[in-house]
Amino acid sequence: MKDFNLDSTRIPKHVAIIMDGNGRWAKQKGEMRIFGHTNGVGSVREALTAAGEIGVEYLTLYAFSSENWSRPKEEISALMDLLVQSIYNEVDELNSKGVKLATIGDIEFLPESCQKALEEAKQSTKDNKKITLILALSYSSRREISLAVQKMTNEVVKGELDSSAINEELISSYLSTSDYPDPELLIRTSGENRVSNFLMWQLAYTELYFTKILWPDFKKKNFYKAIFDYQKRERRFGKTSEQLLDSNA
Ligand code: FPP
Repeated sequence: MKDFNLDSTRIPKHVAIIMDGNGRWAKQKGEMRIFGHTNGVGSVREALTAAGEIGVEYLTLYAFSSENWSRPKEEISALMDLLVQSIYNEVDELNSKGVKLATIGDIEFLPESCQKALEEAKQSTKDNKKITLILALSYSSRREISLAVQKMTNEVVKGELDSSAINEELISSYLSTSDYPDPELLIRTSGENRVSNFLMWQLAYTELYFTKILWPDFKKKNFYKAIFDYQKRERRFGKTSEQLLDSNA
């Protein structure tokens, strides 16, 4: 952190990360793809520690997308085993660091063993207050929005919701992220410059940070570098620079 001289008054509350490049990292080393995922767990630890150290309150990680179900069966099963094993290995550490575990996505589509591990870890960490780690698992932003629209429509049909009450705030409250602020910063590794169906509603004003580093090589210093880059930018929310100066005066 010292290397980057971060402004402690402008730390983003919520950082989201698309962890990408595990497969390519493994291939470069002549190894199987799962070797990349296994090493990616170390980077999860680094990002979470770095985020906690500077006071980020929410860290959302895209660990498994709805589209990832179309990967080879062996890779899916190895990833799920890795997730279960990592959760059991790390739960004490999560508690000692004040990390509360949460999830978004279709958790009911995950294998029983995975659901059980997640449920136990959520229960065990539920009172922690320092930082919330949100794992996006079997997550798709378009699906999340579709489900919210379905729910609102049903309530309108039943007369429980007035359609004129549907506004941005109400829509946000029907999403799986309703308990969290929108991310101020999105990081994507591995040189891909896309959002890939991740938090599309929530990213409306988010600063996007793309790095060529492959996820298993992403360390604390890379996380701080992304925060430093974020702090150099000016978030205008459609206003002019003059208006921002006036409102800060
Ligand atoms: C993307 O790399 C990564 C994933 C789909 C899985 C991420 C999972 C982990 C880092 C491990 C488990 C996570 C937790 C939270 C303990 P890719 O396979 O798409 O890489 P490629 O684009 O190079 O093929």
